[in-house]
Amino acid sequence: MWDRDPHTEAKHDVLKIYLDAWFPIMASRWSTGICYVDAFAGPGEYRDGSVGSPIIALDAACRSEVSQYPTEVQLVFVEKEPDRFAHLESMVVGRDLPQRCHVTRRLGACEEVLLPELDGIKASRGPVFANFDGWGVDTPFELIKRVGQGRRPEVLVTFHSQWFTRFAGQEEVGAGDRVFGDREWRAVADLASPIDKRRYLVDEYRRRLTAAGFPYHLTFELLDEGNHPLFLVFGTTQEVGVEKMKDAMWRVDTVSGSKFRDPRDPNQLAFDLSDGDPNITLLLQQIREQLDQGPKTLVELQQFALLETVFKKVHAKTAVDRLEADGKVTCRRARSYDQFIVERAADSLF
Ligand SMILES: C[S@@+](CC[C@H](N)C(=O)[O-])C[C@H]1O[C@@H](n2cnc3c(N)ncnc32)[C@H](O)[C@@H]1O
Repeated sequence: MWDRDPHTEAKHDVLKIYLDAWFPIMASRWSTGICYVDAFAGPGEYRDGSVGSPIIALDAACRSEVSQYPTEVQLVFVEKEPDRFAHLESMVVGRDLPQRCHVTRRLGACEEVLLPELDGIKASRGPVFANFDGWGVDTPFELIKRVGQGRRPEVLVTFHSQWFTRFAGQEEVGAGDRVFGDREWRAVADLASPIDKRRYLVDEYRRRLTAAGFPYHLTFELLDEGNHPLFLVFGTTQEVGVEKMKDAMWRVDTVSGSKFRDPRDPNQLAFDLSDGDPNITLLLQQIREQLDQGPKTLVELQQFALLETVFKKVHAKTAVDRLEADGKVTCRRARSYDQFIVERAADSLF
């Protein structure tokens, strides 16, 4: 066991808020069974007694809001280190589980034991939420691809801060090939600036997620008080998944005071997320860049905010109102947002 970093705590808050919604919604809609996977499960507990991701998931799965539905709920935990695995076992064994809730624990490397396990329980027939939270950069793309072949898959992949430096500097090309699933990412070497490299790596990873069956994604960095970043990538088949994950992320900031950063932001602004009075400086800039390419409807800008930034759909309108008040854009208003046109003001020096 080890101490829980503040950014890990924030990530656990995001996970808990998301899974507390995910389990009951999926259980109510899918009679085929639902499955949560923790591929790098850890010991289930930290030194201060706070619980790890597998136990957070188990607690969420055991609630009566979930067990009231007649669907099978499967949880699959994989941990490579025997001591950690034994501790996790001790936290699960003897626990009173609802009748249709099953927990499978496997000691071993996830790249070897996970897929046979998922095949055995026929997890791909129903929704699967797979949490890949390794040390550094361990998640093989092969696993992401296989999870993506299911009917309603979602993945949450954690990358640690050294990800960008190790891959941008091509220090470990073998690890890079495993994480990206091919060698094309190595073209990062042709880029000069660290900012371009970072953006390229994030975009390359997103491109592969789309190809692997996750057309919607959300990438964000969590920063703790010491500014230690944790980079999270969420992939899903449904836009609503991104909306819910983003809600979780915005709610967590008000709880923990952690900061967020958009990994594709060239200026790497870190800011609080708070629904009360959000700091939308970055979004103003991002929307202006979009309008450089031509007029957009408000619906398009809302989609852009939801799917390409750390902001929520609702913030797009706030940003457009602000830009209009500042004379940066002109709006052709319409009752329906898909006919509400926003364009650069003719004399605006963007
Ligand atoms: C960051 S910790 C996981 C923390 C846990 N997800 C949580 O939030 O409480 C990573 C864990 O993955 C385990 N691990 C490392 N490589 C692994 C592999 N190839 N397969 C399964 N587990 C692995 C490590 O022993 C460690 O316990």
